[in-house]
Amino acid sequence: MTDAREVTLKEVMDDDWDRVIALRRTEGDDRLVASNACSLAETRINIHATALAICAAGEVVGFLMYERLAEEGRPNAYSIFRLMVDARHRGRGIARAAIRHVIDRLMNDPKLELISICYVADNAAARNLYGSLGFKEIGLDEDGEMIAEFRP
Ligand SMILES: CC(C)(COP(=O)(O)OP(=O)(O)OC[C@H]1O[C@@H](n2cnc3c(N)ncnc32)[C@H](O)[C@@H]1OP(=O)(O)O)[C@@H](O)C(=O)NCCC(=O)NCCS
Repeated sequence: MTDAREVTLKEVMDDDWDRVIALRRTEGDDRLVASNACSLAETRINIHATALAICAAGEVVGFLMYERLAEEGRPNAYSIFRLMVDARHRGRGIARAAIRHVIDRLMNDPKLELISICYVADNAAARNLYGSLGFKEIGLDEDGEMIAEFRP
C-alpha cells in the first residue's frame, strides 16, 4: 500500500500533457470517466478548473480535476469532477492519498462550504473510495449520476 506521503499533486503544465494523456486505462473506463485529452482541453475554457497530475516515485500515475463553483454563485464550494489512476498502479492507495491531499488543499479556504463529487451510480470503486473519506451520498443528479458531498 502506498504511503500518502509518497503521493504528490502537481499542477498540469503544457509539458505534462503527453504524460497525462498516456496514462493507461482499462476497457471499462470510458463509461466511468472522460478521456484525459478531453479533460485537458476543457482547462482551456474553464477558468475555475484546476488540473492536477498525481505523482508517485517521480512518475505521473494519475490525474484529477476540480473546480470552484463560482459560476453557480458558490465561490467557497468545489467539485472534484475527474479522477483516474493509471491501470498499472491501481489498488495501492494512490487515489485515496490524492483525494486526501485535495481535501487538505481545499481546507485552506477558511470559508470552505463543501466539496462535491459525482460518479456513475454503479461505480463501486468510487463509492467505496469517497465513502471511506467521509463523502456522503445525497442522491442522483439529472443524468442519473450519484452526487456525494464532503462538508468540513
Ligand atoms: C476509482 C480509482 C480512481 C481508484 O483508484 P486506486 O488508486 O486504485 O484506489 P485506491 O487504491 O486508493 O483505493 C481506495 C479505496 O477505494 C476502493 N476501491 C478502489 N478500487 C476498488 C475496486 N476495484 N472495487 C471496489 N472498491 C475499490 C476501496 O475502498 C479502496 O480501499 P481499500 O483498498 O482499503 O479497500 C481507479 O479505479 C480508476 O481510475 N478507475 C477508473 C476511473 C474512475 O472510476 N474514476 C472515478 C470516478 S470519476
